[in-house]
Amino acid sequence: MICLFLSMFAYLFQSGWTGVNERTFIAIKPDGVQRKLVGEIMHRFEKKGFKLVGLKLVQASEDLLKKHYWDLRSKPFFRALMSYMSSGPVVAMVWEGLDVVKTGRKMLGETNPADSLPGTIRGDYCVEVGRNVIHGSDSVESAQKEISLWFSQSELQCWEDSSRHWIYN
Ligand code: RTP
Ligand code: MG
Repeated sequence: MICLFLSMFAYLFQSGWTGVNERTFIAIKPDGVQRKLVGEIMHRFEKKGFKLVGLKLVQASEDLLKKHYWDLRSKPFFRALMSYMSSGPVVAMVWEGLDVVKTGRKMLGETNPADSLPGTIRGDYCVEVGRNVIHGSDSVESAQKEISLWFSQSELQCWEDSSRHWIYN
């Protein structure tokens, strides 16, 4: 009930989620799905202690992808990026937890896998910037926009995580 109230409050007032309720948008790109990395990637976020609140397999439309990557529309790689992202289904997810946006980006590694440290997702599972297996929101503001772009409110689940007292003190 409290979760539902908070959800409605955040939705109506666009106040954003903060603290342990912070949320980020993570997407396993078509190469990550094809290469059977879905379970491994989700396992990392679960093991870290983050809470899954949204999950679906999506064949993204051109319209959705243009909105998602609108800031990059003038980049020379934009067409290749649209083609890459629409080449197959992506696993769209929303994860919740303390500093999940910043920590999620650390877990991903750098944009270019060549600059990503071993132990990060891009450092461990890919080699080229144009096939870098995963997307993660780069700020709390971007996360809010991306979550509302990819998910309807009814697709985000409010559920009690019984391990939370072992993750937060
Ligand atoms: P993302 O949004 O997918 O999480 O990636 P990012 O923040 O690390 O990097 P961003 O600058 O937002 O770029 C989005 C995606 O575009 C592709 N890219 N290709 N060929 C290139 O030089 C180039 N640069 C970027 C990558 O797939 C990158 O993740
Ligand atoms: Mg980005």
